[in-house]
Amino acid sequence: MHLLLLMYLGLASFPLTYCLEFFCPSTSQWFYRAKTACNFADQYYCLHDDNNRNYTEICQETPTFDSPGHKVVIVGGIQGVDCEHDIYQPFKYWTNGSSTCAFKKTICNAEGQIIYDNGTTKTDRQCRCDYRRGYKFIKRPKYACYCEPSKEDCSCYKKECPSDFVLTPDYNCVKLSNWSMTSTCSMIPDSVDRDKDRLLAQISQMDEEGTKTSSSMPSIILSILIGLANITIFITALLIILIGMGVIFQFTGAEVIWQSHNHVTQDIIELQKKRKDEWKREFCNEFVKTSAYSEILVSIRNEQCVIVSGPAGSGKSSSTFCAALNLEETEKFDLWIISDPGDILKYSLPDNKQIFFIDDAFGKYTVSQTKISWWSEHRCFIKDILKENKDLKLVMTCRSYIYHSENTIETIKPFCHVNLLSEQLKLTISERRTIVESYKEEKLKSLSDDVVMLYNFFPSLCSRFHEVPNNDTVEYFTFPVNYIAEEVEHFRISFDPFYLALAVLVIYGNIVHTELFKSKATDFDGILKHLSNTLGYKEKPSKKILLSRFHALKDFYVIDKTTWFESLHENLFLMISHCISPYILPCVLLYGDSSLIKERVRLESHRGKISKFDILVPEDFTTVFFQRLVIDLEKGKPEIVFSSSQHTLPEFRRLFITYLGNSSKKRLEEDKHQIAVHCFTKMGYNDYLRVLED
Ligand SMILES: *[C@@H]1O[C@H](CO)[C@@H](O)[C@H](O)[C@H]1NC(C)=O
Ligand SMILES: *[C@@H]1O[C@H](CO)[C@@H](O)[C@H](O)[C@H]1NC(C)=O
Ligand SMILES: *[C@@H]1O[C@H](CO)[C@@H](O)[C@H](O)[C@H]1NC(C)=O
Ligand SMILES: *[C@@H]1O[C@H](CO)[C@@H](O)[C@H](O)[C@H]1NC(C)=O
Repeated sequence: MHLLLLMYLGLASFPLTYCLEFFCPSTSQWFYRAKTACNFADQYYCLHDDNNRNYTEICQETPTFDSPGHKVVIVGGIQGVDCEHDIYQPFKYWTNGSSTCAFKKTICNAEGQIIYDNGTTKTDRQCRCDYRRGYKFIKRPKYACYCEPSKEDCSCYKKECPSDFVLTPDYNCVKLSNWSMTSTCSMIPDSVDRDKDRLLAQISQMDEEGTKTSSSMPSIILSILIGLANITIFITALLIILIGMGVIFQFTGAEVIWQSHNHVTQDIIELQKKRKDEWKREFCNEFVKTSAYSEILVSIRNEQCVIVSGPAGSGKSSSTFCAALNLEETEKFDLWIISDPGDILKYSLPDNKQIFFIDDAFGKYTVSQTKISWWSEHRCFIKDILKENKDLKLVMTCRSYIYHSENTIETIKPFCHVNLLSEQLKLTISERRTIVESYKEEKLKSLSDDVVMLYNFFPSLCSRFHEVPNNDTVEYFTFPVNYIAEEVEHFRISFDPFYLALAVLVIYGNIVHTELFKSKATDFDGILKHLSNTLGYKEKPSKKILLSRFHALKDFYVIDKTTWFESLHENLFLMISHCISPYILPCVLLYGDSSLIKERVRLESHRGKISKFDILVPEDFTTVFFQRLVIDLEKGKPEIVFSSSQHTLPEFRRLFITYLGNSSKKRLEEDKHQIAVHCFTKMGYNDYLRVLED
């Protein structure tokens, strides 16, 4: 693992779907495919999806890169990883042009060749000729000992040395009696013993050849002794290293990773700088220093570990980043923006003043179990690193509901928690006004206090205001339905119980009594089961989890009224129910609260007669809807059911009468019949009256 590339705020991805197994376009086809799939060729990404184990195409706003030795893949978000075994990437990796690392490594298996070095994720293998079998480079390579197959000719040939001569690791024929067993180029490591055997064999051969070499015997013996001593020292050293490594591995694997990687290459520094500049430009230029910012700054200055939780869009990331940046500038800390916590282990340098900043440390929209387990596993280790280097700081952000939905996060001590939803740190009206000022937009200044205070994510609404083509400023800030739809959609596609919690809120017409979760409310169980099925959950989340999700959503989507939960305000409920109900329509029609049915559910065919956030019933569901109306009629009060505005539409009454005509149950009980007659007369629904009289 290594540095991740961040999924920047607001860069939504659009998966494109295919029926057949899909391969990324070849280089020659890349440009055409990219133009077809996305607006601009640079926006097209074709990346490996590690979770689904296939390649997938997405469009992003801008291309992204990673340093040499890396490629970019999709694992939940977009992130950089090392190139796979046997592949390398010698230059910067760009998403606009490739789906994986650039080159396959050379195998070094031509005649006489062996591997000199396996290379890295950035470099190819190096080959050498096997001197043990008498092979030598045809052309002397740039470096005498090895050859780079991507740059030069690495062929070998069999060199015949005269008898009594050996081919040394330096590729020279040397008279055996003259060779001291030292060489500039290394011996082939796994063959030290074989080299010794080879040498001894040749020496004994020479002995048999008799006395003609006897004059030089002392020097032979001497050189053999020196050679053996060298070999012994070499082997001993090798053993010591191996034993040492084994011991370290046995104690803790993680420590080895930490120690062996804590050097930082130029690429990584470059990537950090680019990332920091982007954040600075995006967030800190016109930054408004709120009281939350001051609190975060003080906490980071005084504590080693700070976690800032707050609602989405409230400015927690920008406040936290700009505070950390302030410390970098004023106290000479080195600020690192990372998203994989493993990078702390990789890039923390002893005796350095460093701040590691992790935005959305436990998942962006929903809880990331991988990250939670990482922190649980490495808790003690991180503590040790922090103890060793008091100048190392960790600063993280986390959405409030994520912070509160996992107890684990609270138990990851020793974090100092800054809660942006607390009374002291909530955005005040004057802070919100200052934020408005910073945008220099006249239209924003005219907003009333009520509107400015409506949503926690007001800063985010302001920052996106310029993207909105619609000129109705008040409407945009009062009903930010696109914003809500996007947020809620993230819950839905991740099958998070948060979505189920909001769906329950819709079904129960904005009042969810806590009793539902406690008592043996079997009705509720049935509804949950049906909802989970409709939404495609693998299994129904337990009531306990659901309740915890309600608590976690507190002050962001819902208020805890002790015995019930309701949405923060009516506007929010209108939008939530509008966004969610299309996905749970059968459940809404079956179980939805009667007042919700009466006030909000409308036939889709009556377009123009419906208001913006109504829950629409498509034609297929008309019968189900009418069935439900009849049930409400039988159970409830006809005067209330018929007071719904849709009965004022003659078109609606015609459809309803047709339905009643076809249904066996068209007669109401006697007393209800009386009331209905009375109410129809009063409202002038003569067509209904005629049905009753039939
Ligand atoms: C990749 O696999 C996932 C799950 O198996 C599938 O939904 C998706 O369509 C596949 N994507 C492509 C481009 O084949
Ligand atoms: C990819 O984008 C970068 C930055 O926009 C650009 O420098 C590079 O030339 C692009 N590569 C290709 C293959 O288009
Ligand atoms: C290169 O990698 C192969 C396979 O992973 C391994 O067997 C071999 O010992 C390595 N060679 C060197 C010189 O590191
Ligand atoms: C042996 O080594 C000596 C000096 O160390 C050198 O002068 C001599 O030429 C060498 N003989 C051979 C055959 O390489």
